[in-house]
Amino acid sequence: MARLLPPTLQILRRRCASRSHFSTAPSPVSPPSKAVLYDEHGAPDQVLRVADVPPVHLGDRDVCVRMLAAPINPSDINRIEGVYPVRPPLPGAVGGYEGVGQVHALGPAVTAPLSPGDWVIPSPPSFGTWQTYIVKHESVWHKVRSDVPMEYAATVTVNPLTALRMLQDFVKLNPGDAIVQNGATSIVGQSVIQLAKVHGIHTINIIRDRPGSEEAKDKLKQLGADEVFMESQLDMKNVKNLLGALPEPALGFNCVGGNAASLLLKFLRQGGTMVTYGGMSKRPVTVPTSYFIFKDISLRGFWLQRWMNSDKAEDCRTMIDYLLGLVHEGKLKYEMELIPFGKLSLALEKALGKDGSQPKQVMRF
Ligand SMILES: NC(=O)c1ccc[n+]([C@@H]2O[C@H](COP(=O)([O-])OP(=O)(O)OC[C@H]3O[C@@H](n4cnc5c(N)ncnc54)[C@H](OP(=O)(O)O)[C@@H]3O)[C@@H](O)[C@H]2O)c1
Repeated sequence: MARLLPPTLQILRRRCASRSHFSTAPSPVSPPSKAVLYDEHGAPDQVLRVADVPPVHLGDRDVCVRMLAAPINPSDINRIEGVYPVRPPLPGAVGGYEGVGQVHALGPAVTAPLSPGDWVIPSPPSFGTWQTYIVKHESVWHKVRSDVPMEYAATVTVNPLTALRMLQDFVKLNPGDAIVQNGATSIVGQSVIQLAKVHGIHTINIIRDRPGSEEAKDKLKQLGADEVFMESQLDMKNVKNLLGALPEPALGFNCVGGNAASLLLKFLRQGGTMVTYGGMSKRPVTVPTSYFIFKDISLRGFWLQRWMNSDKAEDCRTMIDYLLGLVHEGKLKYEMELIPFGKLSLALEKALGKDGSQPKQVMRF
């Protein structure tokens, strides 16, 4: 209701609220919450439990958010397994790192332009998004547009922002240039294809051989991929003959490792750079000596969390708004499956790929 008030009344409402800071009125309290918790590291299906969390009092500048949706990303799984370098403390860690919610209540001295009903995301993202209500300081929350599907607001930070940064931070690309990537069916991969297209950059994409890979190939082409190859198609000496009129790429993105990284390297031009940002196959990157000597290739790495901690991260919220703008314009889309919170086990099973390849699982609270 409050979001329908004219701006002047909203300001008045906030001022009244902040005055109550000096009154003896009791501070607002969050509703009881349900959270996905773990007390020790291990396989998600072994260590996760859904538990009731009692209501908490809001501090003066806290905002209580009713979560709408949050994805299960590979890094969420790695945190639960205990193999991710930065993890929430145990016991009582809550899963999840990004997501979208709706402002439920404001502490009496909140000054951010937030009203009940607004959509907000934690930005930079922060631990513990897999719960129905979250109370955090107002500075944590970034108001986002609510005219896009909630699953996009829930997933915009970790993967699309990674794609955007990697396209901008390593090699200066001009319209007409090309990049190469493996793991192209991932959300990062799908985002790379579309963000590159917006800037006139061609993409050469490598996907793994699996049931449904022909269909996946067609979907990536519909998103704007110039070329999509299955790994088995690249078992040849001169893969560059497959490029036709496309220029040799100066930049490659690797989120798989093993053979898929070796195939990516075959495409890189003299002096090219491969950026590794994931290791889905759990196999190491192996580089032939000749690639260093005769091609002078560079190997780099990207980690969004490190980038978020740098001074460059100041513009993070502007980039989020830009990305959601592209979603709104229909220029950025990717496959997701919204799954009710009550079906957490099923969502985890799918996210872990136990039943083969699945779209990104997004829990709806
Ligand atoms: N460094 C960073 O800051 C950063 C940020 C964001 C994401 N990431 C990483 O980026 C990668 C993609 O994340 P995402 O959320 O976009 O992925 P996602 O949408 O969950 O998709 C998973 C991807 O991994 C592929 N895959 C799964 N198991 C595989 C295996 N055993 N061998 C080869 N490929 C496999 C899938 O291929 P199919 O379609 O064939 O199943 C799919 O392309 C992950 O490694 C993630 O940790 C890193």
